[in-house]
Amino acid sequence: MCGIVGYIGNNDSKEILLKGLEKLEYRGYDSAGIAVKNENGVHVFKEKGRIADLRSIVDENVVANIGIGHTRWATHGVPSQLNAHPHQSTSGRFTLVHNGVIENYDILKREYLADATFVSETDTEVIVQLIELFVKEGLEVIEAFRKTLTLLKGSYALALLDAENNETIFVAKNKSPLLVGLGNDFNVVASDAMAMLQVTDQYVELVDKEIVIVTKDHVTIQNLNGDIISRKPYTAELDASDIEKGTYPHYMLKEIDEQPLVMRKIIQTYQNEQGELTIAPEIINAMNDSDRVYIIAAGTSYHAGLVGKQFIEKIAKIPVEVHVASEFGYNMPLLSDKPLFIFISQSGETADSRAVLVSVKELGHRTLTITNVPGSTLSREADYTLLLHAGPEIAVASTKAYTAQLAVLSILAEVTAKSRNYTLGFDLVHELGIVANAMEVLCDSKELIEHISREFLSVTRNAFFIGRSVDHYVGLEGALKLKEISYIQAEGFAGGELKHGTIALIEEGTPIIALATQESVNLSIRGNVKEVVARGANPCIISMKGLEMDEDSFVIPEVHELLTPLISVIPMQLIAYYAALHRDCDVDKPRNLAKSVTVE
Ligand code: F6R
Repeated sequence: MCGIVGYIGNNDSKEILLKGLEKLEYRGYDSAGIAVKNENGVHVFKEKGRIADLRSIVDENVVANIGIGHTRWATHGVPSQLNAHPHQSTSGRFTLVHNGVIENYDILKREYLADATFVSETDTEVIVQLIELFVKEGLEVIEAFRKTLTLLKGSYALALLDAENNETIFVAKNKSPLLVGLGNDFNVVASDAMAMLQVTDQYVELVDKEIVIVTKDHVTIQNLNGDIISRKPYTAELDASDIEKGTYPHYMLKEIDEQPLVMRKIIQTYQNEQGELTIAPEIINAMNDSDRVYIIAAGTSYHAGLVGKQFIEKIAKIPVEVHVASEFGYNMPLLSDKPLFIFISQSGETADSRAVLVSVKELGHRTLTITNVPGSTLSREADYTLLLHAGPEIAVASTKAYTAQLAVLSILAEVTAKSRNYTLGFDLVHELGIVANAMEVLCDSKELIEHISREFLSVTRNAFFIGRSVDHYVGLEGALKLKEISYIQAEGFAGGELKHGTIALIEEGTPIIALATQESVNLSIRGNVKEVVARGANPCIISMKGLEMDEDSFVIPEVHELLTPLISVIPMQLIAYYAALHRDCDVDKPRNLAKSVTVE
């Protein structure tokens, strides 16, 4: 993970770097640092904690118009000031920031750097020491940089300052995302366009194993052989206001509230002039050509995949398997003859998913990415992309991306089914419109949900989410939301599985959140609730209108039975939000996490 920025131009770089890092804090917030260079040399400021902590130690009197910065999600070495980036070579000549993981750093250390002194526990320090070593051995800086890159195994986005060069930031990328932003009399570097939207919307994408020499007037891209590569810039179509919190106390609450809007945007974007849902014909052909769909994803996106399987199997009648990306490599199932791989990823950068993408592409299989981030790695590298149009999701806990993923998956299923002349028996545009309205009603029910959250979760160390059929999948997502932001130990279980072991965990007062949105299993899930209540559990039943009973705590509006996960998840998101709030947790930036998980 981690995020990096760089600036070279005529202005003071400090504020630009700090503002950029604030926008990248979602990528990690264990520590942060900047290095700026002026006529007096390179000045490094770094601190454990957030960008605000870094800000408080940056010397305002240092003015420098070239600099690099980093926000860290710790991989090698604990979160500390010593392990914070930037890292410097022994002589102090070279200063480096790095996003990624160098797998062979230990081998390189032993082979090349036995005599060097290391001050941190990071893999990054090896890179900067190697560059210094090769320069001392007589190579030009660019050659030393290139030689070092050829030795590295793993992922990196790098920005390097040379104390003896006032005019250049050296940049390189492999697997970790990195962009160069273009301006008049300045250029910038960033892990993500959002970081530098403050100064430019013109960006050049980099591909793996490229080096870039960035000066204030020029950007020169080379491959590792030194061949010059020309690439046109693109305009980052991001609205800076999308990434502000506005009057909301937290991004998570803002993003929960944006869900009805996102739903309408998706319906609109995927409709043609005749009002029919439409998807690029090559994607529908790929669906129709496949004999089995393999959905690969992680975390919340994996939970969306579980629901997506229901949509594709029930509506388009294509068999689907859903796999956790990080496990797929070890347990690759026997594949069907004509598989289509669908990668679901909000960020489009998840390394575990990307590893699967790379390996199935090598096997020659077709791939589709469903992502919120156009131009992201998974989007660029897959054969086809479907976008979520949810706008930037900043809070670490995913909310609007999940419901957008479900909506897009339902549209994919519907358009495929129509291309096969299947009769659906419902109008998806109409049903998604009802979903958007229901979402609005739920977003307006915050007071009641806050009350439920207080009643059930204010003093508990654990909580269980139960459901049957798709309600079970939403329960898994509800449990993930709760544990990641409130740190309450929460698990989702299939109602029918309780008696096979889990019920042993039920004690007096254990909160059980049960979902009852499916007519076919309504009575069975209520039977499960009775079983846990008989053993002392404190139940909170969330049902759908039409299926409600007197004992229910909350009733969600009625929507098409297949689409209930799009709305039943909203009380789950809000329950988690308020539980975290009441426990004084950092809602948007929960401990140990990062928004974009770019390490395997
Ligand atoms: C949970 C959450 C994570 C992500 C997971 C995959 O709220 O956000 O579980 O869903 O890290 O990320 P993407 O979707 O970016 O591949």
